[in-house]
Amino acid sequence: MSSSNLSARDRVEAAVKNCYSTWGESYYEDYLGPGAPYPPVHIDLLRKLVMEVAPDTVLDAGCGPASFLRHLIGLGPKLSGSDLTPEMVAEARRIFADRGLDSEQVWQGSVLDFSAFSRPGSSGARADYDAAVCIGVLPHIAPEDEPVLFGNLFQAAKPGARVIVEARNQLFGLFTLNRPSFELFRDELIRVDEIKSRLAQEAQSKIDDAIQEMSSGFRMDMPPIRRGKKDEAGYDEILSRTHNPFVLKQSFEAAGFRDVRTLFYHFHAMPPMLAKHEPDVFLAESLAMENPEDWRGYFMASAFLLVGSRA
Ligand SMILES: C[S@@+](CC[C@H](N)C(=O)[O-])C[C@H]1O[C@@H](n2cnc3c(N)ncnc32)[C@H](O)[C@@H]1O
Repeated sequence: MSSSNLSARDRVEAAVKNCYSTWGESYYEDYLGPGAPYPPVHIDLLRKLVMEVAPDTVLDAGCGPASFLRHLIGLGPKLSGSDLTPEMVAEARRIFADRGLDSEQVWQGSVLDFSAFSRPGSSGARADYDAAVCIGVLPHIAPEDEPVLFGNLFQAAKPGARVIVEARNQLFGLFTLNRPSFELFRDELIRVDEIKSRLAQEAQSKIDDAIQEMSSGFRMDMPPIRRGKKDEAGYDEILSRTHNPFVLKQSFEAAGFRDVRTLFYHFHAMPPMLAKHEPDVFLAESLAMENPEDWRGYFMASAFLLVGSRA
């Protein structure tokens, strides 16, 4: 199929698969292993949230290399995982097989297809989980597909089941003083394009001048763009969105989830570009801040979870 025949969703998914194709074997070590830039504080939090509901069955939709599922092995629930990227599925299956689990409990598929919420070949068997998580996937879902993802998670969960989604915190940009801050000011707070659309040409160019001046208040060269390891597209070169926790909570509730809580993690004691001055203090102070319910998380944490239950 030529690329012009691909739908917008197909194009996003092709880019995601390409981006993650080289990460299958190293992803866990790079981001969750002992040498990771920041300890994976979310794993303990997620495990507590999932095990609190004493689930018999757990699905990780977009499980990567079984990053989270491997931390549930031996705790009781029957574990299932799915992922779009074949190399991630292969690594997750290897982990399952190594630890004595049925590797077919991990399969390939998109979180945007409801059929991919059940093990392939289990025809007629309804997805019916006591707990479902979806971590690191929302950045790669286009805004118009978000209700599809939330709807699929809702349908895949039993009544009363706990569902947890993770997202990157867009409001963190109010603390980082860099290019994402500028973009947040320009596109989400000021909404420059909307203002310009109401103005004559001359006034529009004055607004451009104002925005140009505003950019001088931020480190526009930070953070560096994350490129691929080889020829593949890097994380910042594919669709990798951040989310406003207030807005995402509303969408999650609109999908039918109840008692939704917003929990923050990966705090930053200072804007990250300043960490170089005293890296050990920065790390220790950031870890000391890890309290998912601290209101400062809205601005100083780079990630958050929405935790809800299917009514
Ligand atoms: C940042 S990684 C996170 C992996 C894992 N959940 C974790 O927390 O370590 C994002 C994962 O989402 C998967 N992904 C992205 N879009 C997806 C989609 N539409 N359906 C299923 N998986 C998807 C990618 O293949 C990749 O493995």
